[in-house]
Amino acid sequence: MSSIRLKTELPGPRSRELLARRAAAVPRGSYNAVPIFVKEASGALLEDVDGNRLLDFAGGIGCLNVGHADPRVVKAASEQLARFTHACFGVTPYESYVSLAERLNALVPGDFPKKTLFVNSGAEAVENAVKIARAATGRPAVLAFEDGFHGRTLLTMSLTSKVHPYKAGFGPFAPETYRAPYAYCYRCSYNLSYPSCGVACVDALEDYFNRYVAVEQVAAVVVEPVLGEGGFVVPPPDYLPKLRALTERHGILLVADEVQTGFGRTGRQWGIEHSGVVPDLLVTAKSIAGGLPLAAVTGRAELMDAPGPGGLGSTFGGNPVSLAAAHAVLDAMADPSFFARATRIGTAFAARAARFRERLPLVGDVRGIGAMWGIELVKDRPAKTPAKEETAAVAKRCYERGLVTITAGTYGNVIRTLMPLVIGDDELQEGLDVLEGALSGAA
Ligand SMILES: Cc1ncc(COP(=O)(O)O)c(C=O)c1O
Repeated sequence: MSSIRLKTELPGPRSRELLARRAAAVPRGSYNAVPIFVKEASGALLEDVDGNRLLDFAGGIGCLNVGHADPRVVKAASEQLARFTHACFGVTPYESYVSLAERLNALVPGDFPKKTLFVNSGAEAVENAVKIARAATGRPAVLAFEDGFHGRTLLTMSLTSKVHPYKAGFGPFAPETYRAPYAYCYRCSYNLSYPSCGVACVDALEDYFNRYVAVEQVAAVVVEPVLGEGGFVVPPPDYLPKLRALTERHGILLVADEVQTGFGRTGRQWGIEHSGVVPDLLVTAKSIAGGLPLAAVTGRAELMDAPGPGGLGSTFGGNPVSLAAAHAVLDAMADPSFFARATRIGTAFAARAARFRERLPLVGDVRGIGAMWGIELVKDRPAKTPAKEETAAVAKRCYERGLVTITAGTYGNVIRTLMPLVIGDDELQEGLDVLEGALSGAA
């Protein structure tokens, strides 16, 4: 039985009416990838205001790994809602903050004492990781990567790579932020090939420190274990270990930005686990609380304690309702089958996507890990000319047929998968059928 159920053309009349009101009342800068207004959601399905049922391959940009309206998350959050909604951890603390910190300290890689700070969003968590790294090292500079994304606040926008729409017109940017090429092998900045390159993009950083910033001034390297907004770029297996060795050589802290890769997306709790690398600080958000706003910085206890009392925190950071939801998310993830499911989704997706690539010249690259897969579309394969308009057309054709997808990539030419990990096998295949039809139509 089909899980997609369309009663109207999409967007339907009520969504169109709301879109007109939205255009008058909400700034256009707060963009909508899909012009369909949601009424309710469950698992991997969304119902819109016109009674259409859509399959969700976006999960609110990767925030719903446990699925929409997971009953355990709903129960925990509702019960907390009735107890108290806010006290401010910086005024009168509560147990759930401490116990969730204890759980994350145990789950984050590293056989050493750790501490965790809770804040509200991924960007706020990255900002705090940088504050902690600066306070701990006494150094000002931060190095991030081309095609990386770390948020939209001033500091995180400065670390973010993609210019349009994230940076253009919003300068001047935060000082002492630097950027070097990532291991984006499909579009290698050095025109080399893996493995014969010997992961030269990490070696090149030694020279970078001669030309752009003194190495002894660098507090932290902030890196995504797999590029998210940058196009679901999975670096080769020796990239992160080599980067870790470089940071250790120079007394630089390694900050893993796991905002998009964390909480099972890559088939493990954390994306960085695949590399065996232990970061000094690890930043999480998105799927941590089943759709409620929460983010965290977890790291070596002595680094986390570098800022003095009152130097960290925010009014709503570690909201008790979000914390209750996050406890339920971690309970759900304690079941090993949760991560196995992500890997199964990825295997099924990869098998179908490999066939897309054989059949459709538009498909330039298919890459991924766990349930984090991307399809990079190109106008011609030898030149790898990004097929931005075709990618937008594929995403549009998908939602018109009841599949919500979102794009990624510096050139906007990557279709990515952030479906809830509870998606059923039949639902997944149905979504892939829609995607295949949309890709075939654009080829
Ligand atoms: C890797 C990464 N870091 C940081 C952020 C910013 O998170 P937020 O939108 O919650 O501020 C994002 C958001 O997409 C992200 O993917």
